Amino acid sequence: MKGKDLLSIMDLSSEEINVMLSDAVDMKQDKWHSILDKKVLALVFEKPSLRTRVSFEVAMRQMGGHTIYLSPAEVGLGKRESARDVASVLGRFVDVIAARTFSHETVAELARWADVPVINALDDIEHPCQALADLMTVYENKGELKGLTVAYIGDGNNVANSLMLGCAMMGINFKIASPAGYNVPESILNAADEYAAGMDSSVFCTDKPAEAASEADVIYTDVWTSMGQEEESAKRREIFAGYKITTELMDKAKEDAVFMHPLPAHHGEEVTDEVLYSPASVVFDQAENRMHMQKALLAQMLGGLDVFFRRHK
Ligand code: CP
Ligand code: NVA
Repeated sequence: MKGKDLLSIMDLSSEEINVMLSDAVDMKQDKWHSILDKKVLALVFEKPSLRTRVSFEVAMRQMGGHTIYLSPAEVGLGKRESARDVASVLGRFVDVIAARTFSHETVAELARWADVPVINALDDIEHPCQALADLMTVYENKGELKGLTVAYIGDGNNVANSLMLGCAMMGINFKIASPAGYNVPESILNAADEYAAGMDSSVFCTDKPAEAASEADVIYTDVWTSMGQEEESAKRREIFAGYKITTELMDKAKEDAVFMHPLPAHHGEEVTDEVLYSPASVVFDQAENRMHMQKALLAQMLGGLDVFFRRHK
């Protein structure tokens, strides 16, 4: 890893992602590697969560460690206490911190001042843990990554940013259809272009969903209104009206294409229930894989796998 933290999926190399993918597949087969004995994870969340919180908590428990969940009301990051002081204190108690924040600066500030690794559990720019589980899910369904095509239809948000980067890092062609003004930021696009060039793959942006979906192996979408944007939801429903994933849009993709969504879904907005609950949908495998990939990530970050393999040599 570039440093002690996972703030962006770019903090990992393609090789490290490959190792984690293979570890996560192993973890999925045998859930009881108690390799993080007595390790403690603090979850510091400014926003709600089902998957991220539960997958981290169960992952730690199954690996022999513990988790302390700190809700927005308990910590009051930046309100009751500065992110710097919260990080400095938590670093004295726990072995690793996962933080879900509104602003990327907050998670970066925690990482700067905590003596222990900090994991970005979603902010306004990225959701790296989601992208890692997404790559595992694509691999599980397609048996490979390089050369595949993922089509993302919808908002150029945190999930889209990490997924675009992750796909480019692994040589997956990435096509994204977003309405004008809702594209991924230029800096992310440039970074993804650079990764793709090194992997012989491509990143393609359009405002036409059918163009992105055409011949894709994976059709991916996320909510049009992310947490914290609730006031814009009526406006966004209008702007994104043509970006819903329907059976007709799925038909533009390859015959064996799968449908993916990080969840929670806004039913009937970005995807019809017909697609969400269709045989092509792998959304619940995708949710489960959050836990397996996070086990692999925690093991890498806390040196757990080395300890395990040394012990069993
Ligand atoms: N996909 C995801 O991060 O879900 P939660 O918001 O429920 O954690
Ligand atoms: N883009 C969504 C993802 C939720 C997992 C959000 O930020 O709310």
